[in-house]
Amino acid sequence: MLNIKTTKTTNPKPLPEADNPLTFGTIFTDHMFMMNYETGKGWFDPRIVPYQPLNLDPSTMVFHYAQEVFEGLKAYKTKEGGTLLFRPERNAKRANDSNRRVCIPEVPEKDFIQAIRELVKLDEKWIPEKEDTSLYIRPFFIATDPFLGVRPSHTYLFIIILSPVGAYYPEGLNPIKIWVEEKYVRTVKGAIGDSKAGGNYEASLLAQVKAKEEGYSQVLWLDGIDRKYVEEVGAMNIFFKIKGKIITPELSGSILPGVTRDSVITLCKDWGLPVEERKISILEIAEAQEKGTLEEVFGTGTAAVISPVGSLKWEKMIIEVQDGKIGDLSKRLYDTLTGIQLGRVKDEHGWTVKV
Ligand code: COI
Repeated sequence: MLNIKTTKTTNPKPLPEADNPLTFGTIFTDHMFMMNYETGKGWFDPRIVPYQPLNLDPSTMVFHYAQEVFEGLKAYKTKEGGTLLFRPERNAKRANDSNRRVCIPEVPEKDFIQAIRELVKLDEKWIPEKEDTSLYIRPFFIATDPFLGVRPSHTYLFIIILSPVGAYYPEGLNPIKIWVEEKYVRTVKGAIGDSKAGGNYEASLLAQVKAKEEGYSQVLWLDGIDRKYVEEVGAMNIFFKIKGKIITPELSGSILPGVTRDSVITLCKDWGLPVEERKISILEIAEAQEKGTLEEVFGTGTAAVISPVGSLKWEKMIIEVQDGKIGDLSKRLYDTLTGIQLGRVKDEHGWTVKV
């Protein structure tokens, strides 16, 4: 158990106005959690301090070689005034899986969760209560040695910040348009694509800019070898409903093991729907659309929740889905997941944790 020292701010910020749309990732709460690491000493000095800039030497390793890992989860306010987290143990485990891959020391899972709980409790009044809002929790780890040689750092910071958020996409629950990337790849099996490391997102930026210029919200990545099989979307995993079957790319080593992805698979199985985790080619999707069997496409993610996809642009083809409307399954998943997260729908799997 961590002995977290708390220093409260003497200058609290005003809470966002009730009509503030809470654009994703733009507003931060009054406090942050920090803990240091040194080789030979382990993790030490866990503390909650007023939200503040970091003072780092320009030679700090993370700025040069990107030795960094992050996580994303959310806290929700229930109607009764309680606070719930959604499957935080999954994020704690995934953080350590990612850390191992990029040589960052692991944090005990119970310490990861304790730090989140204490920080969220202190800044509880920042959890927004309007429909479709929540408090986004961003834990992250950075390499802090002031050194320009390439090797794992000997010192690290583990930091958690909080941000009240609305929908990730400005479209909200309206279907988004997706660009299927042909020139660039996000990762390959054996690289860091299944870790939540900043480098994966850096690799996605150029294609995202290009897609935006063409009027598309996000990029759908194909596998880096055959350039045929669907992997994931910029900030989400992806699902297809074809002839009643729910199909999502298998966790092949280059795809992020999403917590929402896992929850959606479980809910679909609970509802008796056939779920297939397997390779799925973009050609199979285009053919399904031509045959009229492509029923729904949606993305899943902590930030995005369930995000219906209205169309996919692949080569010269526009694959339209469901006439650009939200599908019944996407809507049912969104309502059920957010219902569980807000304590309004029975939590059969014990996914929520009280703060
Ligand atoms: C999340 O869904 O929490 C993510 O990490 C996506 C993020 C890149 C916005």
